[in-house]
Amino acid sequence: MSIAFLDGHYLPLEEARISPMDRGFLFGDGIYEVVPSYAGKMVGFAPHIARMQNGLDAIGIKLDWSEQHWADLCKRLIDENGAGNLGLYLHVSRGADNKRFHGFPEAVTPTVFAFAFDIAPAPVADIALARPYKVSSTQDLRWDRCHIKSTALLGNVLHFQQGYEKGHGETILFNADNELTEASACNVFIVKDNKVITPVLDNQLLPGITRHIVLDVLRRDGTISIEERTVTMDEVRSADEVWITSSSKEIAPVVQIDDIPVGDGAVGPMWLAAQTLYSAGKHDY
Ligand SMILES: Cc1ncc(COP(=O)(O)O)c(C=O)c1O
Repeated sequence: MSIAFLDGHYLPLEEARISPMDRGFLFGDGIYEVVPSYAGKMVGFAPHIARMQNGLDAIGIKLDWSEQHWADLCKRLIDENGAGNLGLYLHVSRGADNKRFHGFPEAVTPTVFAFAFDIAPAPVADIALARPYKVSSTQDLRWDRCHIKSTALLGNVLHFQQGYEKGHGETILFNADNELTEASACNVFIVKDNKVITPVLDNQLLPGITRHIVLDVLRRDGTISIEERTVTMDEVRSADEVWITSSSKEIAPVVQIDDIPVGDGAVGPMWLAAQTLYSAGKHDY
């Protein structure tokens, strides 16, 4: 049985209840994070909490929790839930008001909810053991604040579903100028001529913690050149390799976009190099 946290209490997930007047439920008015942990060790804890605080500040939710407070909560969830391969879902909504009104209520207590869920074992840096993805692509029809990790994910859900209905594991997104933004729940990298290229951070994409770690381990290693810049649809379609990154997937190779193979359709050597560095370095974050 999974043990969750809701508003100061640890309880079985099945017993957790919120008010239907909670603004997270009514408006998607909240911020969330997912922190991966393996055998009790979290990856990227501090940057995840910093991103959540940025999101709370951006939407004006006041929650006075220190990083240590979040760390204690995460450690307790890990211990209560068997300390295996766990994703820690952290969620703060603006809270429940007694009326449904778009404006922020003056006195409302944020709802804090968290639970742990099983994730796949961390990827192994081995071509034979890679988990390749086939993905769809489509025009990004979400909002202009994709840098905020909002719980209002309907746009992402609809994009994910577009690919899922075709048997694909993700949907990569291009803006109206046919420039790559990200995927429904991942950041995207391409490889061309041994160079690793990913869109620069702006309001069109989430500043992924995995993206940050990938760029940092590559920079620290220094043997592979990196570019953060605009990436066009043509560049994605003619890339040697494409990767999607997220906390639970780490670096996942993409071997097909729509009906077209990426490069030669096989998992590439640059993925192996990057995942090797990631696996070796991720616990430094
Ligand atoms: C839209 C979107 N982009 C990118 C990511 C990857 O972020 P991270 O590496 O921090 O998990 C996620 C993760 O959930 C996401 O939802």
